[in-house]
Amino acid sequence: PKEAVEGPLVGAVVQSTSHSRFLVFNAKTAGILTHYRVELTQEFPKEGWVEQDPKEILQSVYECIEKTCEKLDELNIALSNIKAIGISNQRETAIVWDKLTGEPLYNAVVWLDLRSQSTVENLGKKIPGNNNFVKSKTGLPLSTYFSAVKLRWMLDNVRQVQKAVEEGRALFGTIDSWLIWSLTGGVNGGVHCTDVTNASRTMLFNIHSLEWDKELCDFFEIPMDILPKVWSCSEIYGEMKTGSLVGVPISGCLGDQSAALIGQMCFEEGQAKNTYGTGCFLLCNTGRKCVFSEHGLLTTVAYKLGKDKPVIYALEGSVAIAGAVVRWLKDNLGILSSPEEIEVLAKEVGTSYGCYFIPAFSGLYAPYWEPSARGIICGLTQFTNKCHIAFAALEAICFQTREITDAMNRDCGIPFDHLKVDGEMTKNKILMQLQADILHIPVVKPCITETIALGAAMAAGAAEGVSVWSLEPDNLKSLMREEFEPQIKATECEIRYATWKRAVMKSMGWVT
Ligand code: G3P
Repeated sequence: PKEAVEGPLVGAVVQSTSHSRFLVFNAKTAGILTHYRVELTQEFPKEGWVEQDPKEILQSVYECIEKTCEKLDELNIALSNIKAIGISNQRETAIVWDKLTGEPLYNAVVWLDLRSQSTVENLGKKIPGNNNFVKSKTGLPLSTYFSAVKLRWMLDNVRQVQKAVEEGRALFGTIDSWLIWSLTGGVNGGVHCTDVTNASRTMLFNIHSLEWDKELCDFFEIPMDILPKVWSCSEIYGEMKTGSLVGVPISGCLGDQSAALIGQMCFEEGQAKNTYGTGCFLLCNTGRKCVFSEHGLLTTVAYKLGKDKPVIYALEGSVAIAGAVVRWLKDNLGILSSPEEIEVLAKEVGTSYGCYFIPAFSGLYAPYWEPSARGIICGLTQFTNKCHIAFAALEAICFQTREITDAMNRDCGIPFDHLKVDGEMTKNKILMQLQADILHIPVVKPCITETIALGAAMAAGAAEGVSVWSLEPDNLKSLMREEFEPQIKATECEIRYATWKRAVMKSMGWVT
């Protein structure tokens, strides 16, 4: 017989752009028992296009769950200890599938994809009333980043999608909807739902009324009957219908950045975190207030932890390219043999030697929202080598974060006195030290850097009808953390930042 571990367990799916993971937490200690990870393919069929295979994503999640269960078995831990599953996912990525066959009708159009730029431009010309029509309802600027225009593109260009909509067979969803529908039975009664955080990234969701907005759907010409039902982030959506965890409720669902905010215990107004993943996303909890930015930040739903719980909002600074620049240096330039090698190269030189790298591969997101920008590397001399470029790539991530914290400081009026960080890249000590130097405030890393997974597990474990996890963060406050203090003079940091800004200006207007 298997041993019962002390305390109930909660599983968390992390479905990111680059990979999927499944982690199992002890609900009493928030410790990770075991986990499994599968890397994912990204397809770039045309310049500016980014796609993923929805079936590969789903299979990767199944594989992660099954392999994690095997590992629990090896640890002699009974699977019956797992009381709930939470899902966190890359946001905005759009999928349309056939509810009768369960087949995707096109590849997933990924959040970074730029193909809808002309759709955005055309829609921009027909905005009713004032320019604030979309932003005042959704908190978002009209941009290729968000799902509505990706869906609009599929409706305009993919015959199979058009036909399925006409025949009433099409379902639309972000990755969370696709996963929950499939895991809860798919064609055999799968639940077609999403949560308020993912819905708030579609440009179709009214963040005040917390409903799909008829006027927005009319504006984007989106049929409302293909949209999922919108639920809170913490309630039982359905249960697993196949595999080793059959019968376990799925009771947590959040966009990955909201999950990280919870995993970092940012429950108070003014608390913020920055997550370094494919991109880099800084969210600041603004409580029950919807704060609208004057400096290029987004207003978004942070979380709603239960059907009857209040909705909490956040200001968000979104940077499209962070970890993705490391993948690009490895896969496209071949100057790294592994992502970790960037730290070795950067350490070797300890400076970019005047080289600046603007990774505007998908235009620039916050605070510029400039689709015409493209990547540049400048300040090169004959002395520049791959180590300097590696260093400049890390600096670029830190400068982009600095632009966001500056915008937040201006919008909120109270400057950050430290920055909470998490995400895979925070393992890179050079990056963390550079971040502290460039922000000129301490950078604080929790000992559990798996904050996305932790947030999803907490939401799932706390749901009504599961109730194995208390959202009181007291037991987690004492966890050790690592701090990086600024080590350069403020004047030096300002000079480098000013040069970065000059380089940003050069990257703009590249596409006309
Ligand atoms: O908004 C996009 C974001 O959710 C992507 O997440 O995990 O791929 O960095 P990730």
